[in-house]
Amino acid sequence: MPTPASPNRREFLKTSTVAAAGASLVGSLGIARSVHASVDDTLRVGLIGCGGRGTGAASQALNADKNVKLVAMGDAFPDRLQSSLHGLQTEFGKKVDVTPERCFHGFDAYKEVLNSGVDVVILTTPPHFRPIHLKAAVEAGKHIFCEKPVAVDAQGVRSVLETAELAKKKSLNIVSGLCWRYDPPKRETVKRIHDGAIGDVTAIHSTYLTGTLWHHGRKPEWSEMEYQVRNWLYFNWLSGDHINEQHIHSLDKAVWVMNNEPPVSAVGVGGRQVRTGEQWGNIYDHFAIVYEFANGTEVFSSCRQMAGCQDDVSDHVIGTNGSAQLMQNSISGPNKWSYSGPTPNMYQVEHNELFAAIRAGTRIDNSLYMARSTLMAIMGRTAAYTGQKIQWDQMMASKDDLTPPKYEWGAMPVAPVAMPGMTKFV
Ligand SMILES: NC(=O)c1ccc[n+]([C@@H]2O[C@H](COP(=O)([O-])OP(=O)(O)OC[C@H]3O[C@@H](n4cnc5c(N)ncnc54)[C@H](O)[C@@H]3O)[C@@H](O)[C@H]2O)c1
Repeated sequence: MPTPASPNRREFLKTSTVAAAGASLVGSLGIARSVHASVDDTLRVGLIGCGGRGTGAASQALNADKNVKLVAMGDAFPDRLQSSLHGLQTEFGKKVDVTPERCFHGFDAYKEVLNSGVDVVILTTPPHFRPIHLKAAVEAGKHIFCEKPVAVDAQGVRSVLETAELAKKKSLNIVSGLCWRYDPPKRETVKRIHDGAIGDVTAIHSTYLTGTLWHHGRKPEWSEMEYQVRNWLYFNWLSGDHINEQHIHSLDKAVWVMNNEPPVSAVGVGGRQVRTGEQWGNIYDHFAIVYEFANGTEVFSSCRQMAGCQDDVSDHVIGTNGSAQLMQNSISGPNKWSYSGPTPNMYQVEHNELFAAIRAGTRIDNSLYMARSTLMAIMGRTAAYTGQKIQWDQMMASKDDLTPPKYEWGAMPVAPVAMPGMTKFV
């Protein structure tokens, strides 16, 4: 059973929410900070999705603030949870206060984590579940660290945007795992682009060409649903394909350079050339998409997950008066420059800033760009899957819904691989 918050603690949380709501008026006077000083000011964290990224994010949360504890964990599978818990306990000792009663398994584990007296939740399951978990977390009044991407279809993105409105009313922090935005060298490079160091941006060339990722195989005792959730990368309904799951980092950097404005259209190609076997589910292994923005700027993007090929992850921003190489943190042309400042771990910066905002009663809200970058990825995928040019407004209104008939460990048919020219826009 969850441990209820103590009366003192409830009072603290109530007061700090009021303080947060009024932060725009009182923030500079430090009133929110003084409220925290007199009562138990431990920030209690819950982790939903205890895999590689979730475990990393939990450790960054535990390092971000001197009075923070991990108190509840939820995962679809007990073995994933236990291995994450063991690693965190070994590293953090008493800062990990997750009793067996606060370990939850299955599709509803998130509800129980949210009901365990936590102040902050880390959402790091496969992307399919993000809109559901984000909505529940905001309804429960939690501050949130939310990994990318935030949905796999347009209805999920619309849900995230609605949830973001509620988070705003409740003054809740939403920090996105689109981590390059928290990397000081990228921040400085993009700021210089915005300040005009390369003139007007006319084109961006982005690549995410990389090898293949993990695969957990199949065990006879697993149902088809369990097999898919454990191997979520390869099923469109769970990951949104690798253009959404991985290449979103490049697309988000482009949206950032474009002042968070979304593109108006996308056209492109993609396919499944090497990963053709049943074990690779129904996703593609390469995409090449051209996105067009309202001012005529184009983003030429490509991504590939294939072994034995040349890797290249880069973003070249081309302007009327020079160019920028985002991954090198440098600018070429008349205003030649390269970054030489500090290079802290961007994943740690995300959590440092989240916890500092909670303490200060100020607010970080990354919800608009995380939703837009996700839809940009889904729009590129849809352009490749259908072979059509897709408009932003059309994509935003798409009725495509990848939700399975039920969340149960049993049968789960695999949707056919998309075929350009035959797969229809929905
Ligand atoms: N920002 C980054 O650089 C970065 C890096 C890696 C992963 N990610 C993102 O983090 C998320 C997780 O990726 P990962 O690499 O940790 O994957 P993972 O498979 O290691 O972890 C996912 C965990 O979620 C669990 N899970 C699945 N369905 C669940 C459900 N309905 N409820 C609760 N738990 C559930 C799984 O059992 C697993 O333990 C993805 O969205 C991924 O794109 C971001």
